[in-house]
Amino acid sequence: MSDLDSLATEAAACRACELCLTRNNVVFGAGKQDATMMFVGEGPGRDEDLAGLPFVGRSGKLLEKLIEQETGRDRGQVYITNTVKCRPPNNRNPLPAEIASCERFLTSQVATVNPTVIVTLGAVATQALLGVNEGIGSLRTRVFDFHGCVMVPTYHPAAALRGGTGVLAAMRSDLAKARLLADQ
Ligand code: URA
Repeated sequence: MSDLDSLATEAAACRACELCLTRNNVVFGAGKQDATMMFVGEGPGRDEDLAGLPFVGRSGKLLEKLIEQETGRDRGQVYITNTVKCRPPNNRNPLPAEIASCERFLTSQVATVNPTVIVTLGAVATQALLGVNEGIGSLRTRVFDFHGCVMVPTYHPAAALRGGTGVLAAMRSDLAKARLLADQ
């Protein structure tokens, strides 16, 4: 069993926060175990909770297309996960205490996959990893260090689906930047 498999087994039995009471499945993460690029979203939605896999709904389809077109990778060549591994009821934002309970899984995933670049998707994931409150509009113009990996913040694909002005173009340019950093 790989390190990620044993962590996933541990997560599947996790009862550290109340999200365990309403989940159907723990959505641990999916993709290549030694990927050069990792994507971190907010938390599973309805489709992900039912499938047990991250980003399989509408946001996931858009993310998959953008990853292919802007990074030259398919989803099997990257690693995809979320800040919390269980669906928050009605897709509300995960609470700080829920993010804190789940943090050890994300930190272990980063240490195990050891990607060159981590792309955080949206304000919740970016703020959680950095421990800041700044808006995603300004965070995405910079890169950060996260446990020795280059962190590239961008918008959440749901924001692009809502049709925010320029969001899709900004995501494309952020992913192209992430590709350059990962492939250099
Ligand atoms: N939104 C997220 O943040 N993560 C998912 O896995 C799906 C939708």
